[in-house]
Amino acid sequence: MPHLERLLYASTATGRTDSLLNMATILAESQRNNARDGLTGTLAAHDGRFIQVVEGTTSALDALLRRLAPDPRHRDIVVLDRRPITERRFTEWTMASSRLGPETAPVLERLMATPDTSAAEIVALLHEALEIGQSRAA
Ligand SMILES: Cc1cc2nc3c(=O)[nH]c(=O)nc-3n(C[C@H](O)[C@H](O)[C@H](O)COP(=O)(O)O)c2cc1C
Repeated sequence: MPHLERLLYASTATGRTDSLLNMATILAESQRNNARDGLTGTLAAHDGRFIQVVEGTTSALDALLRRLAPDPRHRDIVVLDRRPITERRFTEWTMASSRLGPETAPVLERLMATPDTSAAEIVALLHEALEIGQSRAA
């Protein structure tokens, strides 16, 4: 069985992250490609920054990073963590989008500003943001 890995990165948006059209376009492309490539994860955008968790095989993640790097919609990609995992955390989502609420955004900002924050904490927070979003929508 191919090894699964989880990638966590942050980048700086070049366009507006509060534009629904910008976000919907990125999500639609991501969902189409990720379904094909067996990738799952979530993308959060806040205040001109993206933070994304993606899970999949080593080769699918390498291919994604090669496409992400030259994408003019963001710059300054910083890989915060990449590690082998035994199971997926975002199984149900080819690419979810967590709208960061008033409680989540400041916590995430604080975590990202702290160099020794474990990636696990950031991933857990993004997962939580997704669940909050879902229960609000329900
Ligand atoms: C913040 C951000 C996140 C993205 N996430 C993904 C993703 O999860 N999967 C994906 O295939 N493309 C993603 N993209 C788009 C890629 O950079 C690239 O444009 C796309 O994969 C090319 O797809 P195509 O070969 O079908 O044209 C993302 C782009 C941005 C700006």
